[in-house]
Amino acid sequence: MELIEAIKTRRSVRKFNNKKIDINTVKEIVDICQYSPSWKNTQTVRYNYVETKDLIEKISDGVGSDWNKNILKQAQGIMVLSTINNISGYEKDGTPSTTKGSHFESFDAGIYADAFVLACHNFNIGTVIMGIYNEANIKKILNLPEGESVSCIIPMGYYDEKPASPKKKLNDVVLRIK
Ligand SMILES: Cc1cc2nc3c(=O)[nH]c(=O)nc-3n(C[C@H](O)[C@H](O)[C@H](O)COP(=O)(O)O)c2cc1C
Repeated sequence: MELIEAIKTRRSVRKFNNKKIDINTVKEIVDICQYSPSWKNTQTVRYNYVETKDLIEKISDGVGSDWNKNILKQAQGIMVLSTINNISGYEKDGTPSTTKGSHFESFDAGIYADAFVLACHNFNIGTVIMGIYNEANIKKILNLPEGESVSCIIPMGYYDEKPASPKKKLNDVVLRIK
């Protein structure tokens, strides 16, 4: 898929069908995402892929939002992005490199999430980035290592219908030329 077409046609998908996702496709997508930029190329984002029914249920039930629970329940796979703390935005000795503290951890995760949803779109896999979740529950369910934060949750699946695009603000609003 051509890049600009992919950026414009990706949509948040919240209804999935029952078609299974091949783990080799997931591996290929994660490989692609590693070419993304990151703070000093530190690549602190981790992709935690959940494919068993049992864990999908546990994450859905533990997410702490009824809206997101209903979406997660239908997913054929769930990708949870986590980030190793205190590297992105910091010097090797742990001192902050900027005045923005841990801001660049989320910045890197956002870049990796966007690469991921676009790469999924290339393979016709629907996704939606989720920011509303109970972090303690998710960490526990996935047994994430100490010193990692959950950055977002991305349910995945094939779909029968792609939602229409919500209205987007365009250049007259978002572009400020000084
Ligand atoms: C950081 C972030 C957090 C989001 N959290 C949620 C969420 O918790 N639940 C949900 O259904 N959608 C969530 N979304 C999806 C947005 O609602 C969606 O991207 C937006 O409405 C634009 O639609 P589009 O992705 O189809 O362009 C989130 C998106 C982003 C980027």
